[in-house]
Amino acid sequence: MNAVETASHASEFNLTSGQFQRIRALVLKLTGIHLTEEKRQLAYGRYAKRLRALNLNNFDDYLCLVEQEDSAELDHFISAITTNFTGFFREPHHFEFLKQHVKELLAKKSQLRIWSAGCSTGEEPYTIAMTLLEAVPNIGRYDCKILATDLDKKVLATAAEGRYPLEKLQNLPLEVKRRGFVKGSGANAGFVKVRSEVANLIHFRQLNLLHDWPMKAAFDVIFCRNVVIYFDKEVQKKLFKKFSQRQVSGAHLVIGHSENLANVSDDYRIVGRTIYQKK
Ligand SMILES: C[S@@+](CC[C@H](N)C(=O)[O-])C[C@H]1O[C@@H](n2cnc3c(N)ncnc32)[C@H](O)[C@@H]1O
Repeated sequence: MNAVETASHASEFNLTSGQFQRIRALVLKLTGIHLTEEKRQLAYGRYAKRLRALNLNNFDDYLCLVEQEDSAELDHFISAITTNFTGFFREPHHFEFLKQHVKELLAKKSQLRIWSAGCSTGEEPYTIAMTLLEAVPNIGRYDCKILATDLDKKVLATAAEGRYPLEKLQNLPLEVKRRGFVKGSGANAGFVKVRSEVANLIHFRQLNLLHDWPMKAAFDVIFCRNVVIYFDKEVQKKLFKKFSQRQVSGAHLVIGHSENLANVSDDYRIVGRTIYQKK
């Protein structure tokens, strides 16, 4: 949502304090995202679009709809409020670390499990996969799997498709583009598709980090970057406890540039810039 959009529709619907509190409570319950009072205008703009799409003329009717059990609107309600900004090789030092670390791990064992938790539109897990292939070109000889999950079904569908506008690659070195993507032609002109050898390393699944997790694997590396920044401390504490229960001592956890584990988890020690190791 941009400023112009907010201003132009500011008076279209009335969002009372009571209605905003109901939105906040539902967002927190469903996603763990803590909407501060400052986010009121943002929430207004995002949900006003849903009112228009559904031909509703007030927030009460919209809230009655989403508050129903198993409401078909819930996926849209969640999708509207999540922040999905991401990019290939975002925070590149994490992938320098991963490249080195994977070589060391696979020199000692033949199985590797990596989790991209909160993968958005897929740039993060594809970057992980491209890094693995660069580090260990014969990776097919090992049992390597990347699990990529997100709560938001809409972004996950984009992720699983692995098709991106060319502009998304504009800051990548030519060599990385060549190794990771196939350029589209005809109806796909202006787009790239992730190469199958990269995509084949990844399993995409919808998963709410606040719910129970079906996976039993112990993860060598967990990427959970720029996800918990929107959660309150109590939710963060529970989440990092669950991450640590899915890792053995010595395994790694990578978080976003503006996040840290101080007062959140004692289970990890810091070993690099926003890179942690399970104690
Ligand atoms: C800003 S994106 C981060 C993408 C990527 N990790 C990165 O750093 O580039 C945050 C993602 O977290 C997801 N998310 C938010 N709350 C979640 C939850 N409770 N469970 C799972 N994913 C969640 C959002 O849908 C969104 O796609």
